[in-house]
Amino acid sequence: MALGKAGRASTAGEIIALIGDELAQVEEYLREESEAPVEAITAIGRYLHASGGKRLRPVLLLLSSRLIGDGGASAIRLAAVVELIHTATLVHDDVIDGADTRRGRPSPNVKWGNHRSVLAGDWLYMKAFQIALREANFHILDLLIAVTQLMVEGELIQLERLGSIRVSESDYLDLVSRKTAALFSACARLGAVCAGATERDEQRLGEYAWNLGMAFQLVDDVLDFTAAEEVLGKPVGSDLREGKLTLPLIYALEHASPADRVMVETVLADRSYERVPFRAVLELAESLGGIRRARLRAEEFAETARRMIEQFPPSPYQRALSALTELVVERES
Ligand code: IPE
Ligand code: IPE
Ligand code: MG
Ligand code: MG
Repeated sequence: MALGKAGRASTAGEIIALIGDELAQVEEYLREESEAPVEAITAIGRYLHASGGKRLRPVLLLLSSRLIGDGGASAIRLAAVVELIHTATLVHDDVIDGADTRRGRPSPNVKWGNHRSVLAGDWLYMKAFQIALREANFHILDLLIAVTQLMVEGELIQLERLGSIRVSESDYLDLVSRKTAALFSACARLGAVCAGATERDEQRLGEYAWNLGMAFQLVDDVLDFTAAEEVLGKPVGSDLREGKLTLPLIYALEHASPADRVMVETVLADRSYERVPFRAVLELAESLGGIRRARLRAEEFAETARRMIEQFPPSPYQRALSALTELVVERES
């Protein structure tokens, strides 16, 4: 995981060490389960799994399970399930966004085309549910179905809003809740459930992870302005070019001049930086305090997550979950 700095309670390396064996089993499981009778499906699944990714959702699920107790083989299977769901959403998302890079490589839609990518995404979703069914637990299925529906709703809402400059902070936060925080929350709850958590602990872990997910997506949207492309593994400035107004610009526009607004509207309409260069938009977001404010908002969500996890008794897993809140805000990719 390309997260972390030395000298704090838990670094990314220490977190991985805590659940390293389980993560390795998840990887093996993903490899086995992505084998399909049709070559394109296996190839797309393997291509994405082999191109990296932070595996943040399995990490979250496994740490949550360990915080409560021991989810055993169920935790491994469910960690694979959430990564498969995540992978399916990424495959579909890149088709919808017309993206050309994912995890530092050409995205599946570029390599295999939209048709195959949509079908492979469907297959990956169903594979995830097929594995989840092995738990024979309606609550688990319920969590997975609800989160998948929320994510699809999120993508649809985003699609309807594409190209619009009239997006409020609350519109944006609602979207982030659906498209990212809901899956984070489900990961923590699934980890808790398979370790036999009480309803209250499941709920609290879910709230912790929801806040973590909100912080994560806000940082993602800040990185879309500030990151180095080689580190990020996808081009910067993509959100606005894809027609998406995110928090740094939503905040900046509150103080923008009519000329500034026209600049943003131009990129939203053109879906390119031909008439208005990306650095002009970055300069606007920075000078009007949008980047700084969006970062602060991300830190607030991370702080709320930290407070929620501090309600659990101290343990290496509790410290690791707490450290994740810092790593997510400090990440560069
Ligand atoms: C990408 O998620 C989609 C978002 C929610 C921003 P990640 O940044 O966790 O993707 P990978 O799995 O590490 O590539
Ligand atoms: C991420 O959305 C995909 C989902 C969480 C469903 P984005 O479109 O904002 O993420 P990137 O930038 O492609 O990773
Ligand atoms: Mg996208
Ligand atoms: Mg994005």
